[in-house]
Amino acid sequence: MQIHLEIQRFDPERDDKPHFQTYTVEAAPTDRLLDALMDIKRHQDGSLSFRKSCAHGVCGSDAMRINGRDRLACKTLIRDVAAADGDTVRIEPLRHFPLQRDLLVDQGSFIAKFKSVQPYLINDQPVAAGERLQSPEERRRIDDQANCILCAACYSACPVMGANPAFLGPAAIVAAARFLDDTRDRGFEARLPVLDAPDGVWPCRNHFECTRCCPREIKVTKRINETKGKIRQYRAPRGEHVRDGSA
Ligand code: SF4
Ligand code: SF4
Ligand code: FES
Repeated sequence: MQIHLEIQRFDPERDDKPHFQTYTVEAAPTDRLLDALMDIKRHQDGSLSFRKSCAHGVCGSDAMRINGRDRLACKTLIRDVAAADGDTVRIEPLRHFPLQRDLLVDQGSFIAKFKSVQPYLINDQPVAAGERLQSPEERRRIDDQANCILCAACYSACPVMGANPAFLGPAAIVAAARFLDDTRDRGFEARLPVLDAPDGVWPCRNHFECTRCCPREIKVTKRINETKGKIRQYRAPRGEHVRDGSA
C-alpha cells in the first residue's frame, strides 16, 4: 500500500516556525512506522531528523506524536495508524519540550527531573550477608515501575505538564516509586523534598493520559497516587501538612 506521512519539519537555521512536509512511501500494513521514516531518510530526504536506536521498544528513543497520540514509532504498525491505501499519517515531535529540529526535542529538563528523585538505591546500612536480599514477592512489587524506558511519551501526553512545565512529571515519579517500593531502599526522606513539593507529586490531577500512552503499560497514575499516599502517611503522624503549596 501507499501511505502519506505528513511530518513536522523545523530547521532552526532557516525556519521561523515549524511546518509540515508530506512524503509518500510504499509500506506493508505490518511494517512499523519507524521503517517508513527510515525509508524516507535513506531514499528521499537525508535531512529528516528523528531519534531511534534499538528499533525494538527497548531504548525509548523514538517516542513521537503519531496521529495525535504519543507512541514509539518502532512499536506502531502501519495498519494501526493507516487503515487504507492512500491514508495520511501525521507525525509531530513530543509536546512540552523545546523543539530542536524536525522531530527532535531537547529532553534536558526531563533528564534533570529524573535525576532529581535520586533514581538509585539509597541505603547506608551495612550489608549483612554479602548482598541485600529480596524475596521474589518483594521483587515483583517493583516489576511495573522498573519497566520504564524513559521515552518521555507521558510528559507529552500529560495536560498538567503543558500548563505547568515545572511539574516533576510522571516518569520521574515512577522512577522514585521504583525505589520507594524497593524493600532494600532507605531513601524515602532523601527524596521527600522533591516529591512533597508544590511542583512535585501534587500537581497531578489523575487525567490518566500518561497511563494510556505508556508503551510499557506501566500503571503510571496508580504509582503517582501511591506515592502521594506514602507522603501523607509520613506527614500525618508527625502532625505535618503535605507541601502542596496550599498552606
Ligand atoms: S495522571 Fe497525572 S501525570 Fe498522568 S497525565 Fe494525568 S495529570 Fe499528568
Ligand atoms: S512511564 Fe512509560 S511513557 Fe513515561 S517515560 Fe516511562 S516508559 Fe515512557
Ligand atoms: S527505537 Fe528504541 S524504543 Fe523505539
